[in-house]
Amino acid sequence: MQIIDRLEIERQNHFVEQIRLDHRSQNAGDNPVIRYSIRTYGCQLNENDSEKLAGQLHQMGFLPAETLSDANLIILNTCSVRENADNRLFGNLGRLKQQKKDNPDLLIAICGCMMKQSAHVERIKHSYPFVNLVFGPQDIHKLPEMLYTCLYHQKKLYSVGDQDTLAEGLPILRSRKFRALVSIMYGCNNYCTYCIVPYTRGRERSRQPEEVLAEVRAAVADGYQEVMLLGQNVNSYGKDLENRSDRPADFARLLAAVAETGIYRIRFMTSHPKDISNRLLETIARYKNIESHLHLPIQSGSNRILERMNRHYSREQFIDIVQRARALRPGLTISTDIIVGFPGEQEDDFAQTLDLMNIVRFDSAFTFQYSQRSGTPAAKMPGRIPEAVMSERFRRLLELQNRHSLESNQAMIGRKVEVLIEGPSQTDAAILSGRTACNKLINFRIPDLNMLPEPYRLNNDQPNGRALEGHLAKVHLCRAKTFSIEGEMEMLLL
Ligand code: SAH
Ligand code: SF4
Ligand code: F3S
Repeated sequence: MQIIDRLEIERQNHFVEQIRLDHRSQNAGDNPVIRYSIRTYGCQLNENDSEKLAGQLHQMGFLPAETLSDANLIILNTCSVRENADNRLFGNLGRLKQQKKDNPDLLIAICGCMMKQSAHVERIKHSYPFVNLVFGPQDIHKLPEMLYTCLYHQKKLYSVGDQDTLAEGLPILRSRKFRALVSIMYGCNNYCTYCIVPYTRGRERSRQPEEVLAEVRAAVADGYQEVMLLGQNVNSYGKDLENRSDRPADFARLLAAVAETGIYRIRFMTSHPKDISNRLLETIARYKNIESHLHLPIQSGSNRILERMNRHYSREQFIDIVQRARALRPGLTISTDIIVGFPGEQEDDFAQTLDLMNIVRFDSAFTFQYSQRSGTPAAKMPGRIPEAVMSERFRRLLELQNRHSLESNQAMIGRKVEVLIEGPSQTDAAILSGRTACNKLINFRIPDLNMLPEPYRLNNDQPNGRALEGHLAKVHLCRAKTFSIEGEMEMLLL
C-alpha cells in the first residue's frame, strides 16, 4: 500500500497553481476557459471519488458546465460491476466522438473501475483514440499533474497506477447538500467469486480514525445533517490498523465515535454479514442518531450457492443476525442485495432464496441478474444459467420483493416521522422528497405554503425544493406505494 503523504499532495498543489495561474491569465472576464462535467457510474464510493475530482478542479479555477455540450472537459468515472455498466461507457463514448469532432479542444478523460481492466484500456486506445486521459481509481490524487501533462505537453496520457493508494487531504466538492459521503476505507479482500471489485479497487486499507472523525466534524461545521460512512465491507474497518485501546480502530467503535460528534443522522454501508459483531449491533441500538436501517446483502438463500459465492456465512447465520438486530433495535429496517442465476443455481436453490425472503421479509432489496465478469472465479464455473431461466426467476423474485416492500411501507401509514429533505420530487416540483431514519423514501405535499418561511417559497406558489435540501420536516404518512410513501408535511423542523 502506498500512503500518499502531505509532500505528494504539495507536489500536486504545484501543478494546481500552474494551471490556475495560466487559466486566470487566459481568462480576463468572468468566463472561465475550462468548464467541466463529471459523469459518475456505479456506487457511492465512485460518487465520493468524483467529489474529490471536482474539489481538485475547483482548486484549479474550473467551473461546472451547465450541460454536457457546454463542457470542454468531460470526465467519465466508470463502474465495472455488471456488464450493462461496461456497455454504458462505450455507448456514451460513441456519442462523444461527434462532440469531439465539433470541438477538437474538448478534453475527454476516463477513470474508475473499468480502467483497471487492461482489455478496456486497449479498446479505448484502438477504437476511441480521441480520449485524452485514462487513469484508475487509485490515481485520483494525481489529477492536477495528469491534466497539466495533457494541457501543456502531450495530448494523450494513459496512466493507470498499479499500487493501492490511500490519499488524505484532498479538497472535496460535495455534490449533495443533505448528505456528506465519507469513505472510511478503500478496497476489498473478500473475493466473492462473482465480483470484480477486489480486482479494481485493490486490497482493503482503512483511513486513520482521526482522519475520518476530522472529516465528519468538518461536515457538521458545514451544516450537514447526515453523513454516510462508506466501504465495500465497513465491518472489516481497522483490521489493518494498529489496535490500541485509546482510538476507535474498529467499525463498532468508529461508528460510536461518529455518533458522539452529535451529527443528526449517520448512515453506513455495506455491512458484510460474516463480519457483523455483537458490539456493532449494540452500538446501533445505543445511539439514536445512527440510522434505524441495516443494509445486509444476502446474495442467495441457498447454502450451496453461498459457499460457491465464497460468502462465508450460512442462511441460518444470516437469519440469526437479522433476529438479533431487530430485537436490539425495534423498528430497524433491513435491505439487501440478491443475485439470481449464479452459475449452478438450481430451481431448488432459487426456492431457498424465496423461502429466506419470506422468513426475513426485507423492507427493500436491490436485485440483480448474474453478470459474468471476466477474471473472476465464477466466470470459469460450470452451470451457466440460460437467459430465459434467469429472467423468469428474476421476475418471480421481484414480484415477491415488491409485495414485501409494499407491506413494509403500509405498516408505516398513520405515523408522524422526521424526514430529511433531499429536494423536489422527480415528477412534481410541488412535492418534496426525503428519507426517514429507517431509509424510507417519502414524497410529501405541503398543505399550506404559509407553513414555509419566505425564502423557501418560489414566486409561483411552489416550495423551493432546492433551498429546502438538507432541512428537516415532520411528515404525516398517508399512502403506501411499492418504492415510496406519500405524506403531508405537518411542520418544518429546521
Ligand atoms: N461490497 C458490497 C457490494 C458491492 S457491489 C457487498 O459486499 O455487498 C453491489 C452488489 O452488486 C453486490 O452486493 C451484488 O449483489 C451485486 N453484484 C456484484 N457483482 C455482480 C455480478 N457479477 N453480477 C450480478 N450482480 C453483482
Ligand atoms: Fe464484491 Fe464481495 Fe467485496 Fe462486496 S464483499 S465488494 S460483493 S467481493
Ligand atoms: Fe462499480 Fe467500482 Fe463501485 S465496480 S460498484 S464503481 S467499486
